[in-house]
Amino acid sequence: MRLERLLQQQGFGTRKACRKLIRQGRFALAGAPLTDPFVDVAAEEGLLLRVDGEDWPYAGKAVIMLNKPAGYECSKNPRHHPGIDALLPPPFVARALQSVGRLDEDSTGLLLLTDDGALIHALSSPGRKVEKRYRVTARHPLDTAQIEALRAGVVLRDAPQPARALAVEAADAHTLLLTLTEGRYHQVKRMLAAVGNRAEALQRVAIGALRLPADLPEGQWRWLAAADLELVWRKTA
Ligand code: URA
Repeated sequence: MRLERLLQQQGFGTRKACRKLIRQGRFALAGAPLTDPFVDVAAEEGLLLRVDGEDWPYAGKAVIMLNKPAGYECSKNPRHHPGIDALLPPPFVARALQSVGRLDEDSTGLLLLTDDGALIHALSSPGRKVEKRYRVTARHPLDTAQIEALRAGVVLRDAPQPARALAVEAADAHTLLLTLTEGRYHQVKRMLAAVGNRAEALQRVAIGALRLPADLPEGQWRWLAAADLELVWRKTA
């Protein structure tokens, strides 16, 4: 593939803009500066592109994780707060990465983003029962009856079938670890409300066996390696 086209595909602007940046000497391939925009390059996963001094592995489909902070909407058309695009570098915005499911504006934690439509579809499919684990801070002290009710299932207004937590674990009197395999609208908050409590804070800590890394600060993103992506299909550890 022509170099200028490859850079365009990776989100570095129009073909004309990519041609210009290459000619301006702002590009290197696998460590070697390249100034010919028309050179033919074999697009291989992980091939190291360097633009303006920053490394970008070539990715046919981009898959990243973001530690979402509060105060951002998972939407391309945010209404009351900035969208999560504001946290991403321009190439990801140009590639129109989308979040896999959503976290509420005030929720935090692990969010996957990709431009791979088939992956979004598979991960969001109810039949695949991908496990999502949340750390919930409850306003009122949690009691056994509430925990049992969350396990047994609570009826929410939008559907007759009960919303059930796959696992519920009280870490302390106000902290719950809740694992769900569905993603209904405001599901965790509504489940807590249904048992007479209230979710004051909500952090997604894992998707399947993929955990939010302790060393990924809020607002930061990281590429997802193929091995990490495998983990999302497994049970939360
Ligand atoms: N459930 C909620 O209520 N909010 C979220 O952000 C995620 C799950």
